[in-house]
Amino acid sequence: MTRQLIEQAADIIAGSRLTLALTGAGISVESGIPDFRSAGGLWSRYDPEEYATINAFRSDPRKVWNMLREMDQVVNRARPNKAHLAMGELEAIGCLHGIITQNIDNLHQAGGSRNVIEYHGNASTLSCLWCGRKYTAEEKRDEAPPTCQCRNVLKPDVIFFGEAIPEEAMRRSYELASSAEALLVVGTSAVVSPVNTIPSIARGNSAKIIEINMERTHLTDSLTDIFLQGSAGEIMPLIVEAVKEKKQSS
Ligand code: APR
Repeated sequence: MTRQLIEQAADIIAGSRLTLALTGAGISVESGIPDFRSAGGLWSRYDPEEYATINAFRSDPRKVWNMLREMDQVVNRARPNKAHLAMGELEAIGCLHGIITQNIDNLHQAGGSRNVIEYHGNASTLSCLWCGRKYTAEEKRDEAPPTCQCRNVLKPDVIFFGEAIPEEAMRRSYELASSAEALLVVGTSAVVSPVNTIPSIARGNSAKIIEINMERTHLTDSLTDIFLQGSAGEIMPLIVEAVKEKKQSS
């Protein structure tokens, strides 16, 4: 990683009045949670058409819970990694004003971030699609699959393909993205909509786009201003240290 790119990214963040982050599964890989589309990712073992759409869940919830249970065990063991902690620190020094995450693992909050918008919901609560009762994933962890007292199989409060994005998450994300001066895009292939419109909304406001990823994405050569290739856990702390130095010397 060239020092120069880190310094350029830190200059943008230190000088930005509203900095936003958009994160995806890649930021949690170093916490032991596989992403979806890298080699060996979750979708290479489970066809999303059969396991990740709301119709698949409604038609065979027990089958979908085979995948959900595997994810739940991995997420439940996961702890925030250096990238989550660095983002928490960036928020604490007033240089990160919001995180829009596609992840459902709660690791940004566990890493100290408070202003987190969960665009695809969160796996820590479960709902009954039939009677509307809600439970915590914790209280149902030993049931396979978790079942409501009305005897129907419960659904985690994550957004499946074919479900609407939570209204409040959509509104707050649009509001922040359209006034951001800098956008950190970390660990996402940016292929899923509508969340993948965030970078172009921010760009529409002349925001500078800083992308951190192990590999190039379709954003890299179209919208990204600074591409930092490598792992989020290695790069994010370098950026935060450089921003702190700039804030101290300004
Ligand atoms: N550091 C930085 N980037 C990483 C790392 C890492 N340690 N490990 C993987 N990546 C990158 C990969 O190169 C890839 O570009 O993270 C990205 C992960 O992309 P996806 O697996 O597609 O995950 P994501 O973009 O979050 O998927 C979006 O798709 O299936 C749905 O709802 C699901 O929220 C998810 C959405």
